[in-house]
Amino acid sequence: MTAQELYQRLKTIQPGSVLCNYSMEACENMIPMINEIIELKKQQNAVIFAHSYVSPEIIYSVADFDGDSFKLSQDATKINADRIIFAAVRFMGETAKILNPHKQVLIPGPLTGCSLADSITVNQIEELHRIYPNHTFVCYINTTAEIKAQCDVCVTSSNVIDIFSHIENDKIVFVPDHLMGQNVQAELEKKGIHKEIVLFDGCCYVHEQYDPEMIRFFREQNPGLKVISHPECHPGVALLSDFVGSTGQMVQYIRNSPKHTPFLLLTECGLNARMQSEMPDHTFIGSCSMCKYMKSNSLSNILETLRHPEKALSIEIEDSVQIKAKKCIDAMFHYASL
Ligand code: 13P
Ligand code: SF4
Repeated sequence: MTAQELYQRLKTIQPGSVLCNYSMEACENMIPMINEIIELKKQQNAVIFAHSYVSPEIIYSVADFDGDSFKLSQDATKINADRIIFAAVRFMGETAKILNPHKQVLIPGPLTGCSLADSITVNQIEELHRIYPNHTFVCYINTTAEIKAQCDVCVTSSNVIDIFSHIENDKIVFVPDHLMGQNVQAELEKKGIHKEIVLFDGCCYVHEQYDPEMIRFFREQNPGLKVISHPECHPGVALLSDFVGSTGQMVQYIRNSPKHTPFLLLTECGLNARMQSEMPDHTFIGSCSMCKYMKSNSLSNILETLRHPEKALSIEIEDSVQIKAKKCIDAMFHYASL
């Protein structure tokens, strides 16, 4: 790849932060790293996965697979590589490892957490099982392998409504995102599906920041504004949005919209940057809420991971946990295919 090619990809991204401030010079500085990463990937038979929230130069230069958490999980079932570099957060790397127990999965970013995955402990889910022995346990994919191992099925933001609709039991415990849980309850009610859903109290620190007042303000300033939000946002935000969906579904919605539509994206700012790059005919306004965990991945720590894989964080999961967590993920694939 040349600096010119990379610059063409990135030049329409408006600097919302120092992390998204691209110049021709910045692109020229990245090229030696990018070329070394591409070379090391070949030598090591490695592939790079990148979630849409990581910095766009990773997605456009070195990633082999990108997208939302469901797409990345599906992609992880189809690879032949020996080594997976997962530029995202730990729980996503764990999902790849559960699906590929004999491959090495390495996480380059030093901040591997997620406020949702970190919100619930094994003791807490065991306690919920004691209280609700007859409920079906559903977890968001943003959970650790240990939590998945204690649940019947996991869901992502792209399939949560379909999977809830297909679950026969009308008593469900959903962990850990209580805002997504409330959004699901509201959607199911709209469809005439009545379920008793027990919620936990986790939430995403990036998405909980958005509120209905912000939407009203931006609508007044921007006639014709389309507001699209992630289901991890507050139900009041979902109610005022034109569309609610996973990051992948948001991209699809924008792609299918008429040219020159102004958009307010209520999700992590990496998606906003991607859209500014990929769909420069639209206007993407303001609201930048950043996930420090996703943004801790960089070209330099990906390169470091490939140069010294023995020093990188390698995902290891106990066999008994891996087997149970895989059942939970396989159940998602099964329900999502119905
Ligand atoms: P998606 O499934 O939409 O990619 O969401 C993952 C996530 O972490 C959102 O905060
Ligand atoms: Fe977790 Fe929120 Fe970051 Fe997604 S945006 S990885 S839910 S902290």
